[in-house]
Parts: sequence; structure tokens; C-alpha cells
Amino acid sequence: MKFYDIGQPFETEAIVNFEDIIQVDDINTLLDKTQFNMEIDEKVVLTYKLTSEDQIFGLGENMRGINKRGGIYESFCTDDPSHQPDRKALYGAHNFFVVDRKEEKVGCFIDFPTKVEFDFGFTHKDELKITIEGKDVRVYMTTASTVTSIVSGFLKAIGPSFMPPKWAFGFQQSRWSYPNADSIKDIAEKFKASDIPCDTIYLDIDYMKDFKNFTVDEGRFPNFKSFVSEMKADGFRLIPIIDAGCKIEDDYFIYEEGVQNRYYCEDANNKPFVGAVWPGKVHFPDFINPETRKWFGDHYSILVDQGIEGFWNDMNEPAIFYSEKRLKEAIEFAGDKKDKNLGIYDFFDLKDHFMGLSNSDEDYKTFNHRLDGKTYNHFDLHNLYGYNMTRAAGEAFERNYPEKRMLLFSRASYIGMHRYGGIWTGDNHAWWEHLILNIKMMPSLNMCGFLYSGADIGGFGGHASGELLTRWSQFAVYTPLFRNHACMGTRHQEPFSFEPETTGVLRDTVRYRYAMMNHVYSEFMMARENNTMLFRPLTFDYEDTHVSQIEDQLMYGSHMMLAPIYTPNAKGRYVYLPEDMMLWRIRSNESYDLENYSFGHHYINAETHEWLTFIKKNHLVLLNEVKNNVEDITLEELHVIGFIDDKGSYTLYTDDGISREPSPTYLTIEATYENGILKLSHSGEVGCKNIHFDIMTMDQKRHKGVYHV
Ligand code: GLC
Repeated sequence: MKFYDIGQPFETEAIVNFEDIIQVDDINTLLDKTQFNMEIDEKVVLTYKLTSEDQIFGLGENMRGINKRGGIYESFCTDDPSHQPDRKALYGAHNFFVVDRKEEKVGCFIDFPTKVEFDFGFTHKDELKITIEGKDVRVYMTTASTVTSIVSGFLKAIGPSFMPPKWAFGFQQSRWSYPNADSIKDIAEKFKASDIPCDTIYLDIDYMKDFKNFTVDEGRFPNFKSFVSEMKADGFRLIPIIDAGCKIEDDYFIYEEGVQNRYYCEDANNKPFVGAVWPGKVHFPDFINPETRKWFGDHYSILVDQGIEGFWNDMNEPAIFYSEKRLKEAIEFAGDKKDKNLGIYDFFDLKDHFMGLSNSDEDYKTFNHRLDGKTYNHFDLHNLYGYNMTRAAGEAFERNYPEKRMLLFSRASYIGMHRYGGIWTGDNHAWWEHLILNIKMMPSLNMCGFLYSGADIGGFGGHASGELLTRWSQFAVYTPLFRNHACMGTRHQEPFSFEPETTGVLRDTVRYRYAMMNHVYSEFMMARENNTMLFRPLTFDYEDTHVSQIEDQLMYGSHMMLAPIYTPNAKGRYVYLPEDMMLWRIRSNESYDLENYSFGHHYINAETHEWLTFIKKNHLVLLNEVKNNVEDITLEELHVIGFIDDKGSYTLYTDDGISREPSPTYLTIEATYENGILKLSHSGEVGCKNIHFDIMTMDQKRHKGVYHV
């Protein structure tokens, strides 16, 4: 990979490993072999003429399909809960993409902390045009013969993903809100009573005293520390939210310390900027500044000291409901209209004054960050804000708890943040369209380094039907972050909140995730280690031109292909197999079927309680015995499902699930099939006693038995 600096780019620290990267001092060298053009004026504009076959992958958290061609996107971290198909930006700003074309593929990363527009053949169908809103930017380009080698090179350059504790791969239940200790206990009891595995319950903003970060409302949560430990002993870790904005209130330590030490972003008069979020008026910590990061990050210990082991950072685009100044202007404007007969234009003008109050560029331009004696306007560094909030926490955890992993994920992000925490994809809806969006987004998130990620299962806004939640959970069995979260005012969507039949199916679905716990964890850790993606479009793995059209099936880890169902009332779906594979039809009551399918198109039935996972030829999948908590799962009795022609193996990665620098152990299981006889062997030692196998061979024979280790 090469990079070229235009002007004086801000050091984002997105890329940290320069081993295979060279700096070039001439644009032509940068663009060599790419056929891209670059023009530098008040803005930097890159263009490229697309051929009819070219496809474009990447841009992390964004709308539309896996192939981003035909759309227009904006890199600008945005809090907008309405993820409509034509939205240009969501909460993350992930400026890496690959053009997949006949000649050498092109990878490009625009390392620029504020607005970039990616017009991928939207305005002119054959033109890719990137408009960078400034002229201090670092552009990385590379060419290679395969998309996956470009992605691997990029993943190596940005450094390995955040490593969550293993318990964070368990099922997580959230809602805005379980507002007090009794409601949390009630949820925990219902999980136990319905025998549904669950490892964490979330504390949304109402656990805080008046929405003040690092405080706990003692009225709602008396004796918080013992409550946290009581819940943990019962099998549930509590995960509190931390918001970016800090309430302005005398005697509130965060307010006072921040003001005294100038830790907050300041306006043009060097006064802390005032915006409003959940607590009303707040100041925003200047996370770009390392001293502020240290100060803010160390405060997470207030909750860690009470037994907390994970956090979610929110509202860190930062979301601003309104600024003091512009609200005042809008109210004055409305005052002038009082008792007037408003025609259509006046009325909409009045409405727009209020509708445009939140998250406006105008406000983002009125406050500053201070770093090394220099002042930077927030707008110019906007996309780095959530990244550096999560970095503040991540750095503090590393400093204060060097031995132990903590769970951490964020709403806003930029590439580089993936080293400190994961992300969830924000305020989606209980819409079938958002289930398929979640499916399509996983590969692009992985391309940009975000391995520990997932969506709010069932949807955050709106009311989820049992069927939607079921189909969504079936897909989320594979996403590292496996969290059901919903907004205030929506129908309860905990798995036990439905009629018994649906609850039963949801229980079995969650239990499957727990059966696959070691496999999912192993695949995650291997992807992290090897700079590979956990979720891939089929076209990344197969040459076959047909697969380039497929956006609703994904390759998963090293062995599987997923064909999720994402439409209501479906009793099956069409699936394209790029090679012969074995269908692992997973269904409720912990039962499954194994069926061989040949290369090509198939319509495959799948009732609501079933889902379709395929295992590649000569591959094995390892399951463990189900327990209701990740930490109770052992490796003593393992189950192997597999599809063998002549020989296949699986190497399971394991570690203690909690050390920051784990000492992994591996178990390799090999199956060989010769002259009608299937044999198992193993190497490595992970405390496994028996391996129960159920292996299908290409000749349609099913081999079941127990292999003693
Ligand atoms: C934001 C978050 C959502 C959370 C809510 C209240 O909308 O995205 O997950 O529940 O704030 O804190």
C-alpha cells in the first residue's frame, strides 16, 4: 500500500502498522495502475471511470447493499434513527473500499476526519467520484490481484480488532429501560424460569442519577455494588451505558473537574460549549486531547470498582439535540410568528427552525478541540469524536486493568476505533428491511476492522413480531455481538415475551448459539489473528461470475455459508451453491438434519423454527454442550458435524477467555474417509474427553459415533 499526503493531514492513527506501506511524494506514483484521477483545489476530488462489470465493496457501516455501486454515501458520523434506504450516513465513518474489476483490484482509504462524499455511480452511472471537503488529507491506495489480499493488507495495517472477553459472546438482553433493580431481577428470573441462556443485562440511561455519567441513582439501585455482585453470582453481568455529554450541574464532580481543567470542548470565546442531550444542558469532553481521555477514561473505574466489567458508549457522534444559541434563535423566531396567519411557506419555515435544531453542521462548527497548543474546529475532526471517546475508555482499561479484558462497544466510530472496542449499528427498526440490512452490513464492517459488531436484534424502534425476532435471532446466532435491544414504548421483545411456541423457538435459537460458542469464538479469534473477515460476500471466495450477484448469502468463517431468511411468512428460500455443500438444517428442540446439496440453484424449505447453514466439503464444525452461561461451558464433551469427501479437519482455538494476552491452546480434529470407512483422529489438548460425531460423506452416508480422546 502507498500513501500520499495532501497539505497537512491530521494524524488520525487509523493506520498503525506501516510495515508494508510506503509514502510517495508524487500523485502519479500513488495512482499508478489504479486509473484513478485526482484533482486538488479547495477540495480534493478523485474520479474513476467504472466499467459495466466493476463492483465496489466497503464503507463499513452504511446503507444499501454489499456492492455499494449505484449509491451515494457520506462519511460523517450521524445520529439519525431513521435508517431509510436513501440515508447517506449512519453513525460510523469508515472510508475504506475496494473496486473489484477485471484488471488488478484497487483498494483505497481516505484518511480524513470530516466530510467525504462517495458517489459510486449515482450521479453518473459510470463515474466513481469522491469529494473530500478539504485539502489536508492522506490518501492510501493499493492494487492487487484479489479483493481478499487487499482487505487482509488493510486489516494488517490498521491493527487487530479489540478482543472482548469470551462471556461477551453470550446472549445479551437490553431495553431502554430496565429502570431499577427490581425490573432487572424480574428479567433475570424470567430468563431462568424459561431456561434461556443469557449472560448480560443492560443498564440504559435510567440507572444514572439524572443522566449524569459515572453516577448511579441510589433510589432505583440501592446498594449498587452488592446488587452487581448478586446479579453476577446469578449468572448476569450488568453493562451500563456511558454518554458523551456531561451534565452541567454545580457540585457534580465531572462537571466541576472538567471545567476547572479545561477538559471540555470550547466555543470561540474559550467557554465550554453548551449543547443539550438527555440530561438537558451538557458539555462535551474534548476526547481528541490525551489528557481529557485519561481523565474521562479513569472515571470508568468508579463503576468497575462496583463490579462492572463492560460498557457501551453512546451519543458520541456527538448527538446534540439542540445548542443553547440556536434554540434561543428558534424560540425568538417562533415568538415573531405568534398569532400570525401562517401560509404554507411561513409555516414550513417555522417548522424547519425546530426540525433542524439537532445535529447541525452549524453547531459542530461553533466549538473547538485543543491539542498540543493548537486549536482545531470540531467540524474538521468530527468523525474522530466517538472513536476517541471509546479510545479513552479502552486506554484506561489497558492502563488500569492490564490483565483483564473488558467489554466495550460504541455507537459512533472511525477506522482505528476497532482496536479499542466494537460497535453496534445504532437505532435500527423492527423492520424486515433492517434485518437484510444487518446481513449485508456485516461484511463491510469486517472489511473496516470491526469484528465485534452486531445490530439490535429485533430492531430498536417499532414493535417486533415474534416471527421477525425469530428470523433475526437465527442470523444473529453468528454475529459476535448477540444483543436484543429495544426502545422505550415498544412492545417487549425479550425472548420470553411471546406466546409459548415462539418463546420455545427463540430459546432453541439462543441455545444453538451457546452450542456453537467455542466455534464462534474460535472463528472470531482466528479472523482477528489472521487479518481475515468473519463474514464475506460469496464473491470474495469464489471466481464464479454468478456469485457476484448474491447479496443475501454470506460466507462465515472458514467453513460455512449462511443463507438467512429475511422475509415474512417465508417457508423457504432460493439458495445458490457455488459448489457441493451439506445443508445443516438447524431447528428447534436442538435437532437438525444433514442433507447433501449439489452445486447450483435450489429452493429449500425452512419453516419458521428452522434455518439454513451450509458446511463446505471436507470441513467440520465443533459444538459444545449447552449451558446457560458462557463460563459454565466446558470442552469435555464435544460434538462434530461435518461433510467429508476424503479428508477434512478443524482446529479449535481456545483460551481462558479473559486474559488480555491469552495463551491459546488448540485442538485439531481430523476426519478421513477411505474405502467406506470414516476415521477420526486428533492432536492438541483442551481437556476434551469425548467427541460425538455426526458426519455426512459425499456418498450420502451418515456416520455417527463417539471418539474417545
Ligand atoms: C440512543 C441509543 C439507544 C439507547 C438510547 C437511550 O438512542 O442508540 O441504544 O437505548 O439512546 O440511551
